[in-house]
Amino acid sequence: MQPNDAPIGVFDSGLGGLTVLQAIRSRLPSESTVYLGDSARIPYGPKSADTIQRYSRESAAFLAGQGVKVIVVACNTATSLALEDVRDESGLPVLGVIEPGAEAAASASAGGRIGVIGTIGTIASGAYDTAIRRLRADAVVLAKACPLFVPLVEEGWTEGEVARLTAEAYLRPLLEDGMDTLVLACTHYPLLADLLQEVVGPDVRLVSSAQATAGALRNLLGEEGLAAPPEATAEAHYFVTDEAARFSQLAKRLLGERVKNLARVSVDSTV
Ligand code: DGL
Repeated sequence: MQPNDAPIGVFDSGLGGLTVLQAIRSRLPSESTVYLGDSARIPYGPKSADTIQRYSRESAAFLAGQGVKVIVVACNTATSLALEDVRDESGLPVLGVIEPGAEAAASASAGGRIGVIGTIGTIASGAYDTAIRRLRADAVVLAKACPLFVPLVEEGWTEGEVARLTAEAYLRPLLEDGMDTLVLACTHYPLLADLLQEVVGPDVRLVSSAQATAGALRNLLGEEGLAAPPEATAEAHYFVTDEAARFSQLAKRLLGERVKNLARVSVDSTV
């Protein structure tokens, strides 16, 4: 197989990275993809850096073994804590979600008061603050961990009273601090976008790194000379590390279509 025909590898701690995969597939329709959801070990958000780094290396090794030409780390927590580990392990071009998300936020924000919401790991790493302030020195980053959002999305509670009250409690301090832009710095949060927009009001711009990442991937493939020929027939393969049936149900809700080519694998090097 020519390198250009090889698939793009995408991994996340579970199904949330499908928001990134979906953006990639609609922006780059000729590209084949291999998605790995580490569903046996989700959540990554509250775990320590060395654990996330081991998990990410194992995912990278699995995707490299599938013959992918580039790896997209679709998980914000893994991007924050393990991007270099994925590069070392795979020896492939690697793209995370933080740089593209930070770029989109820095250019979308009128007044430079940028809210960033994510998992405990992402927020504690300070990776978004660093990336945003590198692009825009005058920016004030208002960061907030929102650990209850991932389980709400996994349960399908993306609207209704519980989700609304949770969002209000998390976002009130950022609104009081004058936030004008809000970065959804977690794979799951785009599924709460409608509710979050209602809670923050129409004057706050919501930025999702999924779309920005797909754009950055297109540029990366161009720079590396790795883009698939436009006439290529794209295939999508999915792997999960826990039961496929539950992933399949949730994925259908998220992608709006049934996931084909789905298999369960183990990537854990310690067993
Ligand atoms: N994928 C994770 C992220 O984007 C959210 C889910 C988790 O905690 O594993 O940070």
